[in-house]
Amino acid sequence: MKTIKIKSPGTVANLVCGFDILGLALNEPADWMELSLLDKPEVIIYNRDNYNLPTDPEKNVAGVVLLSIIEKMGEDIGFSLSVEKHIKPGSGIGSSAASAAGAAVAANQLLGNIFTNEELVQFAMNGEKLASGVKHADNIAPCIYGGVTLIRSIHPLDIVSIPAPDMFVTVVHPQIEIRTADARQILKQQVSLKDAIKQWGNIAGLVTGFMKGDYELIGRSLEDVIIEPVRSILIPGFEELKGKCKEAGALGGGISGSGPSVFMLSKNETIARDVESVMRDIYNRIGIKYNTYVTTINNKGIEIL
Ligand code: HSE
Repeated sequence: MKTIKIKSPGTVANLVCGFDILGLALNEPADWMELSLLDKPEVIIYNRDNYNLPTDPEKNVAGVVLLSIIEKMGEDIGFSLSVEKHIKPGSGIGSSAASAAGAAVAANQLLGNIFTNEELVQFAMNGEKLASGVKHADNIAPCIYGGVTLIRSIHPLDIVSIPAPDMFVTVVHPQIEIRTADARQILKQQVSLKDAIKQWGNIAGLVTGFMKGDYELIGRSLEDVIIEPVRSILIPGFEELKGKCKEAGALGGGISGSGPSVFMLSKNETIARDVESVMRDIYNRIGIKYNTYVTTINNKGIEIL
């Protein structure tokens, strides 16, 4: 039996101003998956964690991805998948994308690397559709490609890897659940021209800042006048958190994906750890349980072990 093990990283989508178009991969946390090739068209799923995710492949994010690959292959192949999740579902750090992209990359490896990265993103987006109702790729692309990615277009798919300077990422995950589908539902469908101008100035600034390694420009550009004002009301202590993290030296940051996690970028580890202390103090005072991560940008994406 052919078997493969992989490590599929968490991701931060949106990067504040780039709703649905920007994302980066993290070195921690990550999910572990083991996939075996079967000779019948079936998908068997074993969950080796306590998240109680569905084992019915039609209802499982990784399951629908594997089913779509079986359908594409049109041969008698199937998969047995064992998953050990460490990225909590509903955390805003790309839990569904790690499952979906991990399944696509592992299956491709077992099949002899017959698909391109773009095709793997297409397969994996079936998982995001199941999880959030929409095919967005801003978690999946960085998960597969590593680093910072821009989704210039979904139809047709156009993914661009963006070089970025070394940075530390501090993430706090307050233990409340925000479903991506709900966090999308509350968004306004219209944007004023004034806000659009600010937003695309920031996106261009952020991408330029990454490419030039200009930390000050990155910091100035981490501003969102469209999505954050609506979604931040779902996150306890958000404004205070953002303000105090910047006072502690963070370049900037905001909601990770659709929340509730909040991320901050910092130039070095000392600042990133100070930022973590600020986050802990605030959630200890508010009285909400939380997890924190201090990590770096993962430039490899999904790793075959
Ligand atoms: N771009 C998506 C959203 C990411 O913000 O809804 C979800 O993780």
